[in-house]
Formats: sequence, structure tokens, C-alpha cells
Amino acid sequence: MIELNYRNIKEEIIGGENGLNINAEFDAYKDTIHKIIAELNSNKDKPGQNLQWMNLGYNEETIWYVKEYAAMVENRFDNILILGMGGSSLGAQAVCEALLPPYWNHLTKEQRNNYPRIFFLDNIDPDQMVSMLNILDLKKTLVNVVTKSGSTAEVMAQFMVLKDKMEKELGDDYRKNIIATTDKNMGILKQLSSQEGYKTFYIPDDVVGRFSVFSAVGLLPVALLGINIEEITQGVKDMDLALKNTDIHYNIAAQNALIHYLMDVKKGKKISVMMPYSYRLRFIADWYCQLWAESLGKEKNKENQIVNTGQTPVKALGVTDQHSQIQLYNEGPNDKIINFLRVGEYDTTLEIPNIFEYTGISYLGGKTINRLFNAEADSTMASLIDYKRPNITITVPKITPYYIGQLLYMFEIQTAITGALYNIDAFDQPGVEQSKNYTYALMGRVGYEDSANELKEKL
Ligand code: PA5
Repeated sequence: MIELNYRNIKEEIIGGENGLNINAEFDAYKDTIHKIIAELNSNKDKPGQNLQWMNLGYNEETIWYVKEYAAMVENRFDNILILGMGGSSLGAQAVCEALLPPYWNHLTKEQRNNYPRIFFLDNIDPDQMVSMLNILDLKKTLVNVVTKSGSTAEVMAQFMVLKDKMEKELGDDYRKNIIATTDKNMGILKQLSSQEGYKTFYIPDDVVGRFSVFSAVGLLPVALLGINIEEITQGVKDMDLALKNTDIHYNIAAQNALIHYLMDVKKGKKISVMMPYSYRLRFIADWYCQLWAESLGKEKNKENQIVNTGQTPVKALGVTDQHSQIQLYNEGPNDKIINFLRVGEYDTTLEIPNIFEYTGISYLGGKTINRLFNAEADSTMASLIDYKRPNITITVPKITPYYIGQLLYMFEIQTAITGALYNIDAFDQPGVEQSKNYTYALMGRVGYEDSANELKEKL
């Protein structure tokens, strides 16, 4: 299983001002955590609780449909293009980047075993979009438009551009190159896909975007690239079983949730840094940032009191950001908890040849890049301890579908528990909806005229 090491948040390691008396805290919060976990599990099937993501690993039907479709289109496409924003894109991107060899799109078709290249269009920068359109042969591109609401302006605008271009280039056949992933009952994309006859996958009710990675939103792109999605969901299920344990001493998601919560409210650590020592896990940091920010950054608590909760998540990459951010983390404000994300065993080993005799560098010769990478992570951790900066380490034994399933699910449960500790709704996003509505108003959507007038004043 994935491991959590929280030694370096203890007061005996980093001092009482910044560290926690963790045994006392675990005892103090034992009952609260027990109640939170029990409630999460007993409420997960209740409509309106937004907890259906806890069942996604067990959704054999989706897994079957996704696998069936992936098998049907195998060898048909050179490219997959995902159109989606935030939770409708980041999960799939995090999993693909973790599980495909780095620089996948630059490999030859043979090196990719005939599986397609994958592109994520999670922005609407016109320069980016035009360049992407120029490099994709649309006849050989499968476009997956993903939106739960079915109306997000950015995604629908992207889709309109693509659909028009595809229809012009492919004629009526263009429909075979489009898949919609959306809500079963509502939204314009749902209507459109029924009318136009696109292959459609559904996001279950009570699954919000950032918790949708184990629905068709994440599983379909991954399956299209030949990744074993059942290994992923097996990881999810095994982690789910482990995290059903209501005793904080045996539940790593609860431990990390409580540590982050206390670091914020008791020790003033307002920033949570996610720092993988793995290029392949770098998008997991992006995904975590969205999960942490959008779930926990809330104005009001469940009693409708103004609380303005949430830590600011920051992504960093080892070793790259040792040479960019660590100076600040060590010597700047002591307002962060650093999450190291480490890999037990890399897929490959690379030797550093013994080719120079200069004493300043000859010590490297004959060692491995792997050893250097680990030494860099250890050294960064040691220096954080010297400066009394709290840090925890999550270790993924190996980057496999199974462990990626475990890891992402662990973060989801951790986020849900942290939300409960803050007493906020971790599954809404009124602050995002507000700016979405302003965009509709600015772009002249019918029904948003009042907002449009109000905005004229504001801007
Ligand atoms: O996590 C979330 O709920 C958001 O990030 C959404 O995924 C994002 O805003 C896109 O929304 P939609 O899927 O409705 O297009």
C-alpha cells in the first residue's frame, strides 16, 4: 500500500512552535474522526450528498462500457483530443501523464504499440487552439468533449470550433470521431449528443468534476491508451477498504487530513505544497491543487457563518523546484506544510558513467541517477527539518495503475475528511459558478441581462 510518513510534523522533530504533539492530537480527535468516516460511508448512497464518487471504483457497468468502446476503436485513431476544464480534464491528464512513458506524444506509432497520442485542451487561448488544430489530422482524431454541466462556455466554444471544422473536413462521418461525456439528465451537451447521435458516456449523479476521475471522465481516455483500468479500480477498492477504518491510528487519509487541518488552524500553515519527486507525477500535483483549492476554499461553513477556510495549494517538482522555490520554503515565511510525493522504485535505472577524474564531480561516477534523485529528496527534507518546516512524505511503491488508483482515491478521502473538519461543504463551488455566470453575462447569454448591466458598472 501507499505509505504516509508524518514524522517531520512532530514537535520533537521541528519544535513546539511549528510541530504538533501528534499522539495527543490523535487522541483528542479520535471520536471526531471516527464520526466523520462513519458518516461518509453511511451517507455515500444518499442522493444529494455528492458522495457517489466513493462508489466509482465498484462501478462494473462503466468499466465494461469503457473497455468495450476502447476495444472497438482500437487502432482507428492517431490522436485523442480531450476538451474539458478543471475536474473534467485534470484527472485524466494526471493519470495519463503518470502511467504513459514520458514524452508519449513524441514516440513513434510502433513505440506506442499503435495507441494514439493524447492532447488535453484545457484552455481557450486562441494561439494555442489554432496551433493544435494545425497539428491534428481530424480524420484520425477522436474528440472527447467532457462537461458535467454540459454548458461551460469554454468547453462548448471549443466544441463548436471543432465540430464545425470536423464536419467540413469529414462530412457526415464526423460524428464517429466524437464522444461526449456528460450528465445523464441535464445540460445542452446531453441534448446535442442525443440529437446528433454521438457516442455518449455519463457522469453519475452526485459526482462533482474534481471527484470524477474514476468515472468515464478519467477512465475512458486512459482506456483508449491501452492502460488497464481494472488495475486502477482495484487500487481504488483496496484503498477504500483500508480507509473505511474509523480509527485514526490506521487510516492514512484521516491522519493527513487532521495534520493539514491542524497545521492550518493551530500553526498558521496556510499553504500546502505538493512536491512529487517524479516527472511522471507532476500533473498529480496539479490535480491535487484543484481538489484542495476548490473543495476547501469556502466563504461559509455549514451553519452559514463566514469562515473563509482553506489552505492555498502550491505545486512544486523535485528536483526542478529545489532550484527555484526551496530557498523560500526554507527561509521565507514558515507558513507551509510540504508534501513530498516519492516513488519507491522507478521503472528504470540509469548509471552515471565514471568518465571524469575531477574530484568535484568524480564522486558521481559509478552511481545511479536514481540514487542522486533520492539523495536530493532526502537532502531537501533534511534542510526543511533544520529550518523547522513541517513536511510529510507519501510514498508510492511504484508508478503502476494500481498504485495511482490508490493514491488519487486517498487524496479524495483526505479532502472529504478535511472538509468535514472545517465544517464546510467540500463538494460545491459557488466561487467558480459566480465567475462562470459573469462570463455568460459578458458573452450575451439570454437570461443573464441583469448580471451584464451590473458587470458594466463593476468593470
Ligand atoms: O471540479 C469542478 O466541479 C470544476 O472544476 C468543473 O469540473 C469545471 O468547472 C468544469 O465544469 P463542467 O464539467 O461542468 O464543464
